[in-house]
This record gives sequence, structure tokens and C-alpha cells, in this order.
Amino acid sequence: MKRNIVITGGAGFIGSHVVRLFVNKYPGYNIINLDKLTYAGNLANLKDVEDKPNYKFVKMDICDFDAFFKLMQDEKVDGIIHLAAESHVDRSIKDPFTFAKTNVMGTLALLQAAKLYWESLPEKYEGKRFYHISTDEVYGALSMNHPEGIEPPFKTVASSEGHKAYGDDFFYETTKYNPHSPYSASKASSDHFVRAYHDTYGMPTIVTNCSNNYGPYQFPEKLIPLFINNIRNRKPLPVYGKGENVRDWLYVEDHARAIDVIFHEGKVAETYNIGGFNEWKNIDLIKVMIKTVDKILGNPEDHSLDLITYVTDRLGHDARYAIDSTKLQKDLGWEPSLQFEEGIEKTVRWYLDNQEWMDSITSGEYEKYYADMYKER
Ligand code: NAD
Ligand code: DAU
Repeated sequence: MKRNIVITGGAGFIGSHVVRLFVNKYPGYNIINLDKLTYAGNLANLKDVEDKPNYKFVKMDICDFDAFFKLMQDEKVDGIIHLAAESHVDRSIKDPFTFAKTNVMGTLALLQAAKLYWESLPEKYEGKRFYHISTDEVYGALSMNHPEGIEPPFKTVASSEGHKAYGDDFFYETTKYNPHSPYSASKASSDHFVRAYHDTYGMPTIVTNCSNNYGPYQFPEKLIPLFINNIRNRKPLPVYGKGENVRDWLYVEDHARAIDVIFHEGKVAETYNIGGFNEWKNIDLIKVMIKTVDKILGNPEDHSLDLITYVTDRLGHDARYAIDSTKLQKDLGWEPSLQFEEGIEKTVRWYLDNQEWMDSITSGEYEKYYADMYKER
């Protein structure tokens, strides 16, 4: 079947994996990667698909309602997978306005343009889909009432033998929203707008809330790529607070696979949680990274432990996130495919093998190169 799909934020971390999956898996689809190319957007993430006939890049700000409405008409867009966002919690603490603008107003501009275009068609919303990618951070923070860890109530491929849960509560699709950071507040607001467009106008929307992703092409402001690069360069590893905060980690390609399944088979107006059932205290995860990098670089065991540097905690730092994605497993048969230690080794190797990609970001070269290249097209 021919489909015309806009993927917003396709030049970012998760978006680039979604674009790659869709371009390769669906040669009959017209895949339009819509991205403003902020500091987080990097077309080098998509070098391997940029010449495919079913792929097109459009540089656009999601806040530009008129331009997006025209794109909808020109490309006869019938599906939107919306990932574009400001995504880094630390930046949201310093600059909340940009987060409200992009994440809230940008999402609203897309919704309204899609509404006007789809409602102008004879078939209206039939066969259309607005799929909004969100985060588990909208649910707030879970308790750490088992700081030593307990046997987790669920097991998946992603969690390894002997793996622990650090509390006995989890995020479910029914968990009340309780965002704490400006980032999660802006994502929560955008989720509400998406649901409002279904409830008010009947737009076929879906929202998913996912846990922390890791893997290739993540911008090195986030914990995992930042720390891998710092270990490699013998730079300090700034651990916030005591390093006791817990995150639930999922390999990014598993998230992209979930997005594929949900876009095609998910039920309209539903919410699906996506996670790895794979909780890690930051400090334990950091030690796994140190071990893995040291092993690959041929350093003596624990050579880089001395780089750990405890620093002032993040303001409002959420203690623990842990997703229950049983609904997605039961209803749509999705499961993580990669065991965490395997995933982290694959990720470390990727960053070490792709030093050029990392260097072009840390030097700032990537922004200039792709801005110039885009102008030439
Ligand atoms: P990212 O920061 O790596 O990429 C964001 C992309 O959006 C970039 O390419 C950027 O250029 C683009 N963008 C930003 N503002 C834009 C605008 N105004 N117009 C058009 N494009 C714009 O983010 P990511 O980590 O890949 O996250 C993608 C989505 O997934 C976000 O919505 C985020 O909230 C959500 N999410 C992320 C995670 C995670 O662990 N990274 C987990 C759950 C959900
Ligand atoms: O849970 C999903 C969310 O995961 C996404 O919605 C966000 O877009 C994504 O950025 C991520 O948010 P986190 O804040 O959890 O990710 P980050 O990589 O920034 O931090 C992971 C943990 O590591 C967190 O507890 C803070 C800590 N940390 C982070 C950095 C950058 C440190 O201790 N030191 C650091 O330098």
C-alpha cells in the first residue's frame, strides 16, 4: 500500500532509527523526514538512507503552521509520526520557554494543520493517523522503597539474570500524570492536546510513553554517549547526586520496532507504554560502561573508575522510572529483543568505532557542514 508519512524529528536520535526502519522496510511508502535541524538534529545520522527513492528531507520548524499545512496538501500526507521535540531535561531547567514553544505549540500547530487538511478531504479521517511519541517522565517519579532491589515482577529479554526492581510500583497506562521538570511538563501538555484532538474532533491519534532509550546516534549531552566519550578521553564523569537514581533502559531499535507495530496495528485513541523492564541505578550503569570501555580499549580492569566525580544533583531529579509495558506485549506482541549487557556493549563499540561522528559534534563542525549542504540542495 502507498502511504505518505511525515516523521518529525527524523534527524534526531530516535527519529533517525525510525526513519531508517521505515525507509528500508516499506519501499512503497513516501517517507518525509521533517526536521528543523536544531543543535540535536544531524543528517549524518541518516547517511545510509539519504539517497533512497522513498526518502525525502524537509527542513521545517514544527511551529510553522502555514508551511506544514502546505506540506500536508502537497504530499497528501496520511500519517504523522511525531518525534520532534526539545528532549534534554537539563536544558529545560535552564530554558523552559523553548520547551513550551516547540513541544506544546509545535505539537498544536501540527495537530491543527492535520485537522484542517484531513477534514477537507472527502474521506476525512479514514485511513489517517497522528501518532505522538512521548515519555514516561510525564508520570512523575516512582518510589525507591526497595533500595537494595527486589525480584522484578516481570522478565523480558532486556533484563538480565539476577536483575532487580528498586520499588514495588510501576508506571501503567492508567497512572496519573504528575510531571516535575519543565521538559516533562511540556511533554505532558502536548500529550493532552493530542488526546483532546481525538476526543473533540475525532482525529485518529495514538500516544506512546517510552522509557530511556540508548544506542547509536544519541546526542552526547545524554548520560550514555557523554560518559562513553569522557571515559575514552579520560575526562571526569559528572554523576548527579549520589548516582542512586533509577532509569529503565531500552535499546533504541527496539523502540523503533514498537513504533512500527503501533503505527500499523495500534488502536486509535489508545495509549501504550514502551519499556525494557530493565531498571538500573545510574552508578551501576556507569560502572558497566567503565568496564566495557576499558575492556574494549585494552585498559586494565577498572582503570577508569577514578573518573567518577560526584557533582551537585539535577534540580528536581526524579528518583525512579520503571515502565510496565505488558499491554503492548499482550495486545500487539511486541517485546524487547536485546539483552541489556549485549546492548550496552554494542553501543559502546558503536561510539568508539564512530569517533568521527562524535568529534564532528563535539567540535561543532556538524552544524556548519549540514547547514551548508542543505543550502546547496
Ligand atoms: P533528540 O533531541 O535527539 O532529537 C530531536 C529532534 O527534533 C532533532 O532532530 C531536532 O532537530 C528536532 N527538532 C527540535 N525542535 C524542532 C522543531 N521546532 N521543529 C522541527 N524539528 C525540531 O530527541 P530524541 O531523544 O530522539 O527524542 C525524540 C522524541 O522521543 C522526543 O519527543 C522525546 O520526548 C521522546 N522520547 C525520548 C526518549 C529518550 O530516551 N531519548 C524516551 C522517550 C521519549
Ligand atoms: O525517561 C525517558 C527520558 O529519558 C526522555 O524522555 C528524555 O528525552 C531523555 O533525555 C531521558 O531523560 P533522562 O533525564 O533520564 O536522561 P539523561 O541521559 O539526561 O540522564 C539519565 C540519568 O543520568 C538521570 O538520572 C540523570 C543522570 N545524569 C545525566 C547526565 C547527563 C548524570 O548523573 N550525569 C550526567 O552528566
